[in-house]
Amino acid sequence: MNIYQQAQQTIEYINKHYSNQHPKIGLILGSGLGSLIDEMTETKVFSFEELPHFEVSTTQGHSGKLVIGKLNKILIVALSGRYHFYEGYDLSVVTFPIRVMKLLGVSTLILTNACGAINKDFKPGDLMVINDHLNLVSNNPLMGKNIDEFGPRFPDSSEIYTKSLRTIAHQTAKNLGFSLRDGVYAWWTGPSYETPAEIKMIRILGADAVGMSTVPEALVASHMDMKVLGISCLTNMASGILDQKLSHQEVLDVAQSVQVKFRNLIKNIISEI
Ligand code: HPA
Repeated sequence: MNIYQQAQQTIEYINKHYSNQHPKIGLILGSGLGSLIDEMTETKVFSFEELPHFEVSTTQGHSGKLVIGKLNKILIVALSGRYHFYEGYDLSVVTFPIRVMKLLGVSTLILTNACGAINKDFKPGDLMVINDHLNLVSNNPLMGKNIDEFGPRFPDSSEIYTKSLRTIAHQTAKNLGFSLRDGVYAWWTGPSYETPAEIKMIRILGADAVGMSTVPEALVASHMDMKVLGISCLTNMASGILDQKLSHQEVLDVAQSVQVKFRNLIKNIISEI
């Protein structure tokens, strides 16, 4: 059974337990940002464990739920928790929820994450619109036999992060009284944070931020012709920039401290799409 057929089975399960309303917007909530699902109404919650072909997620701070419901009166499907490559999952597992979202009817995907700031003008707590990415992991979720039902063998990657959505994000933040950073996100495997030498290298390569997620999902969404918006919460200065050690707790704490601002931004962006 290929991934398309597996995703169809997952959809059958979801449809059996939820009326056939089709959300057009998908939202992936990164580390420490998952509580946005608490603001959703008329929800139907599916745990990853119960969904056919979903694996069980293991990371601290990621609970693993797919939630369909309304945010600001708009029907969305949200993932609280995601699969990471560093957990040992194949990239087909990491990106499977995005395949399912597509079959559910999602045409716009909002990806969020917590990441480290490389650009020294940025500071912890800033939010950044991803304008492009660097795939520094020698892997790609589209490797292997192409699934023609989803998209082409050689998809264009010149605008993975949809320009019009980036404009909406910046304008929305402005209306709310703050501004967003804009930059290139580099995907690093993890789970160890980068060394100072690696951060120097990644800066020279052209990245403004670095993290351990998002790129696989964005590649798969783009393969399926979804519009993609990526928003990063810069939780720390990347390794070696400050004379201090990095910790997952710090990442969670900073993500938590900007939660209200972040939630507000996402809710308002969803109304503008
Ligand atoms: N590097 C990689 N991933 C991260 C970081 C970082 O500094 N902070 C949060 N996620």
